[in-house]
Amino acid sequence: MAIIGIVAIDRNLAIGKDGKLPWHYSSDMKFFKQTTVGNAVVMGRHTWETLGSPLKDRMNIVLSSRTDGASGKAVTLPNVRSVLNLAGALTRDLYVIGGAKVYQAFLPHLNRWIVTEIPLSVEDADTFMPSNFLEGFELYEVRQLDDELRAKFYERVSEARP
Ligand SMILES: NC(=O)c1ccc[n+]([C@@H]2O[C@H](COP(=O)([O-])OP(=O)(O)OC[C@H]3O[C@@H](n4cnc5c(N)ncnc54)[C@H](OP(=O)(O)O)[C@@H]3O)[C@@H](O)[C@H]2O)c1
Repeated sequence: MAIIGIVAIDRNLAIGKDGKLPWHYSSDMKFFKQTTVGNAVVMGRHTWETLGSPLKDRMNIVLSSRTDGASGKAVTLPNVRSVLNLAGALTRDLYVIGGAKVYQAFLPHLNRWIVTEIPLSVEDADTFMPSNFLEGFELYEVRQLDDELRAKFYERVSEARP
């Protein structure tokens, strides 16, 4: 079982604007689906609320301090530790799918990152990855998703700082 962050970032590390993804690339959506299907995904309540319904063929976990942050449509857990306990009992991988608060909370626990580079500089973006999010990780694969997009795969090479 591995814990893997999967994110799409623009040239300035932006990931969101006005509570939404500020772009739509079908090649990246397809890649995201192919990569995560059959596994568990964990997301923050804000990201959950942008989906409308659970992601198909995946165990959907929503991180929220509210007792039923996902209105019975997904597993709601109140903290990172409880997600890690559940993930430890799974034979599948756990994909951390955002948003910013959840990436930050899981950062010390990630074994790998999958990062799609979006060739844009989104104006007035309001949600960003921290500049050091790939610290301690090393690139091991680059995959071209279409003419414009590529996904980069990173694995952890040094322990996360406490
Ligand atoms: N580019 C990408 O790949 C990508 C991927 C995903 C999302 N996004 C974008 O990111 C933005 C949303 O990010 P966000 O940071 O605002 O929201 P978020 O991380 O999706 O959700 C935040 C909420 O999740 C819960 N949460 C987060 N960390 C927690 C913890 N450690 N313990 C308990 N609960 C926790 C809290 O819910 P409660 O308030 O219920 O306690 C918190 O208010 C949107 O614009 C979205 O489109 C981009």
